[in-house]
Amino acid sequence: MPALRVQHRIERVKIKSTTLRVLPTVLFIAVVLPAVAAADAILIRFSHVVADDTPKGKAALRFKEAAERRTGGAVKVEVYPNSTLHKDGDEIDALLAGKVEIIAPSLSKFSPLGLTEFEVFDLPYIFPSRGMLRRVTDGGVGQELLKKLEPKGVTGLAYWDNGFKIMSANTRLRTPADFKGLRMRIQTSRVLDAQMRTLGAIPAPMAFSEVFKALQTGVVDGTENPPSNLYSRKMHEVQKYVTVSNHGYLGYAVITNKKFWDGLPDNVRLHLKLAMFDATRYANLYAEKENNDALTKVRASGKSEVYELTVDEREMWRRALMPVHREMETRIGKELIQAVYKEGAALGHKF
Ligand code: LMR
Repeated sequence: MPALRVQHRIERVKIKSTTLRVLPTVLFIAVVLPAVAAADAILIRFSHVVADDTPKGKAALRFKEAAERRTGGAVKVEVYPNSTLHKDGDEIDALLAGKVEIIAPSLSKFSPLGLTEFEVFDLPYIFPSRGMLRRVTDGGVGQELLKKLEPKGVTGLAYWDNGFKIMSANTRLRTPADFKGLRMRIQTSRVLDAQMRTLGAIPAPMAFSEVFKALQTGVVDGTENPPSNLYSRKMHEVQKYVTVSNHGYLGYAVITNKKFWDGLPDNVRLHLKLAMFDATRYANLYAEKENNDALTKVRASGKSEVYELTVDEREMWRRALMPVHREMETRIGKELIQAVYKEGAALGHKF
């Protein structure tokens, strides 16, 4: 269905004036498209798996607001949070099939497209600073990765941060030895699988929508996620201990169906790009604060004991986990890992 219906809508909302097209790009920032009757609007379904009250959830709503405002209603964005429309595992298929127009999977979830390179973001301790992360996502490395999506029928629109991950379990996790034998839920990434095995744990890949129940019922013993995901899903209520390890990064690539995107009228696409730019700036500016706030709330809840690794403990974890970089070279590509290191080296980081 959707391809035809969407095309039909696009035809109907094509803006008559050619004036907009010839204006310099900078002027578009202030221009809003003429209002369009709601029934004629181009529909963008934006599906994701986390709560509205998370960095991704808020950025998706920010995109909706900016896109609808900028296009004067020519575009209507429906945001479906909490896996209400599609879960991990089927959201990429839904995008390719035109059942949704935008999704923002975590960078750990691109192997179904055959793009295991995205798992470079999962390597433990690969980003000692946010500055380095930004150099990677905004620079050549990140943009080349997004280009790899095109032959798959997908267009990459942006990178959105969530943040650095913490570990949780019903036992204290202070040293790598504490992970021995624990079943730890992970996203479907081989790098995360290797990370947990290196710690002596048993990795359990699972859709995000199933994690709370699995923790509650003891199907798994623990998990990793940035505090915003842990708190918004109340995982801290069923986990006695949380360790602030910041051992790895979790972020997203916001992606759209290429055919849908290329089929949009130029002026609509331009306004959507600007709306995405706005949402991305918002996401990447506030994600860190949102995670800090979530961690504060976890602490205040008194349900989980929150432990911060000491400098020595952190170094112990780092030394234990760095061999994962080597182990994953064939999956990710040695050159890509080196290119990421190079961005770190420019800021004085050593690997
Ligand atoms: C997870 O599965 O833990 C995360 O990818 C969820 C998300 O989208 O942040």
